[in-house]
Amino acid sequence: MEFRDLNRQYKKLHISIDEKIAEVISSAHFISGEAVTALEQMLAEYVGTRHCISCGNGTDAITIALMAYGVGKGDAVFVPDFTFFSSGECPAGIGAVPVFVDVRRDTYNMDVLSLEKAIERVETEGRLKPRAVIAVDLFGLPADYDAIRSVCDRSGLLLIEDGAQGFGGRMGERKCCSFGDSSTTSFFPAKPLGCYGDGGAIFTDDDAIAALCRSIAVHGKNADDKYDNVRLGMNSRLDTMQAAILMPKFKAFKEYELKAVNRAADRYTDLLRKIEGVVLPVTPDGFYSSWAQYTVQLPVGADRDAIQRRMKAAGIPTMVYYRKPMHRQGAFEGTGSADADCPVTEELCNRVLCLPIHPYLEVEEIENVVRELGKAL
Ligand SMILES: Cc1ncc(COP(=O)(O)O)c(C=O)c1O
Repeated sequence: MEFRDLNRQYKKLHISIDEKIAEVISSAHFISGEAVTALEQMLAEYVGTRHCISCGNGTDAITIALMAYGVGKGDAVFVPDFTFFSSGECPAGIGAVPVFVDVRRDTYNMDVLSLEKAIERVETEGRLKPRAVIAVDLFGLPADYDAIRSVCDRSGLLLIEDGAQGFGGRMGERKCCSFGDSSTTSFFPAKPLGCYGDGGAIFTDDDAIAALCRSIAVHGKNADDKYDNVRLGMNSRLDTMQAAILMPKFKAFKEYELKAVNRAADRYTDLLRKIEGVVLPVTPDGFYSSWAQYTVQLPVGADRDAIQRRMKAAGIPTMVYYRKPMHRQGAFEGTGSADADCPVTEELCNRVLCLPIHPYLEVEEIENVVRELGKAL
């Protein structure tokens, strides 16, 4: 059993994927071009933003968006403590200071009360300028954007949505990657919409920011002339091959994969309810997840390593996202970012366990995972 079975997906889609790859090779256009432009248009239309700017990966997407707004030295950027490293690495990489904020125990997403406290603390200390919030759609579930947006508006903060795991998620009718002033995603293979290498994108309604992102992603080029470099940027393009691969994958994602992964998650939830002490992920009313991960909290005191070993022996891969709060990562040692008070994140890091989930998971496999987890506990 695979944690995320990309082979099953390829078996189903291989004719169209192989055709797309062959088209790119025979055209001999490997960078940019029609496939990239067409994909950007399709993605922007789906998400509901005016612009989609593709780039090399989801990490660059966050950095490019922050650079486009001029975030940098002296700025405080509020980031959840329970997330993948990029969410904090990107602001730190351009000289800003990530200030880590606790998350909610039920949704695993940013806790707005903790955000408000962190903003107040930074304002009182007066060393940094509160500048932006990076909200993460952890495990596929949109963050609480109504509440986060109103805090941002009140405090004059920019809102960046890190939708690396959230593509396909929804809050009401609004889709993930449309909630930030700019939003970003990743097409890393294991993501809800993944390619066969690295890839990412930035989404925004702001024409000027979109133009800046396009420039920054290609060495700070002038809009019309790639050899006229008007600012410092980076080399971060989505390969034509990856754009072509994403086309049939995106079609399958819209047509049935998103529904199928939600059915798998519902099945897990039904069955896991019967296991005492296991805390299940919560999808609040009106929210829809793209289930990048299905993450439970094990009963207090359970030996997670032993449970993982036992499940592995039964042929079931499990993962722990994440073992270490961001503020404890070695990279932030000795920086202002290391002083964070995030007790919920600390507890989650000790208790969470991610179970295999993907659109091609069979009901019997889900039943088997739940049975083995029950036995292991
Ligand atoms: C929340 C989050 N942000 C950013 C990223 C970075 O994406 P990429 O690996 O494409 O750089 C990831 C990838 O794991 C992620 O999970």
